[in-house]
Amino acid sequence: MNAPDTAKTLARPMPHVLNTYGRLPIALSHGRGCWLWDTEGRKYLDGLAGIAVNTLGHAHPKLVPALQDQLTKLIHTSNYYEIPLQEQLAAKLCEISGLDGAFFCNSGLEANEAALKIARKFGHDKGIDRPEVIVYERAFHGRSIATLSATGNPKVQAGFGPLVEGFVRVPLNDLSAIEAVAHSNPNVVAIFLETIQGEGGVNPARTEYLQGLRALCDQHDWLLMLDEVQCGIGRTGKWFAHQWAGIQPDVMPLAKGLGSGVPIGAVVCGPRALNVLGPGNHGTTFGGNPLAMRAGVETLRIVEEDGLLDHAAAVGEALQAALRHELSALTGVKEVRGAGLMIGVELDRPCGVLLGRAAEAGLMISVTADRVIRIVPPLIISYEEAAQIVAILCPLIHAFLAET
Ligand SMILES: Cc1ncc(COP(=O)(O)O)c(C=O)c1O
Repeated sequence: MNAPDTAKTLARPMPHVLNTYGRLPIALSHGRGCWLWDTEGRKYLDGLAGIAVNTLGHAHPKLVPALQDQLTKLIHTSNYYEIPLQEQLAAKLCEISGLDGAFFCNSGLEANEAALKIARKFGHDKGIDRPEVIVYERAFHGRSIATLSATGNPKVQAGFGPLVEGFVRVPLNDLSAIEAVAHSNPNVVAIFLETIQGEGGVNPARTEYLQGLRALCDQHDWLLMLDEVQCGIGRTGKWFAHQWAGIQPDVMPLAKGLGSGVPIGAVVCGPRALNVLGPGNHGTTFGGNPLAMRAGVETLRIVEEDGLLDHAAAVGEALQAALRHELSALTGVKEVRGAGLMIGVELDRPCGVLLGRAAEAGLMISVTADRVIRIVPPLIISYEEAAQIVAILCPLIHAFLAET
């Protein structure tokens, strides 16, 4: 995640915790549905869902008993043994994605690391000794050395060189840039992008662009690797954001919303990527543990049972329409965009200060790419709660634009 660096001045010291985040001076104690309470009893509407993580909100009445049941059975074993819940979750992910198999890990960056290893091995297996992966300006894939090298944000990379080699960077939504790389670079093995860039400012890859990428990957025998860590698991109103374009990736990293708050990551693979890694090629101690797997199985079951895909699409559309209605005419508001419940409001100036002001007014949101207000609430958010987001946020934006 990106630290809300504009809030640094407000941060209270936590002398025993490394100082890697600019935190707000708020300590949350509990939550229910789309609401959170802090240790001083103040109440907040959750428009952030722990950065697109709490799919089912807080203390969900179906998820909590299932996790309690799992705690009494098994939390962790090891991948030395079969873990039936891994098979159950993998089968469900294959059913809803149309892909063929999954590897489980613990976070988004780990899912992306696995995807990058698959891409490199795919290249080596066909005789390419120095495989290269096409990545994007403004992308965000994580904070490990390889994933921050794939990330297209100099602030995230600063101070951590030398970066990992083997990446070629292009702008989003420009097929001619990819064609130019295809022409000049025989070492390319994969294209790796977020279907909707999250940290980069809620920037969607266009439908025709995604379809064009699929065709180019087929033509050149490259892997299409779609990072759905933030935009997947129902957030846009379909299980996965690329499904709006009617295409399938070869490799799809997932994390965040898959466990509704329990740490989890997955890489889901289609036929061309399925058998690239074999025994001994990759692994993790905690990945695929029974507690995380149960959280994934139950999250997907509840999303389906409670009709949350259609709900996210409909309430997201209403929320975006209301934001446009309130904000579009304002000079200073460049665009309201997104899909379903992944929404960005781009201003014409840095607006990180709104994070703290929204929290003071009882609303959790975030600001990404300096000037984009990001709203990614739990998928269970009601129409009334969505209207409350608009009612709290829009006056803050009006006041902010009037003063700066
Ligand atoms: C698209 C995307 N990929 C990867 C990551 C990294 O995930 P994690 O923080 O779980 O390592 C993020 C985190 O924000 C993300 O938005």
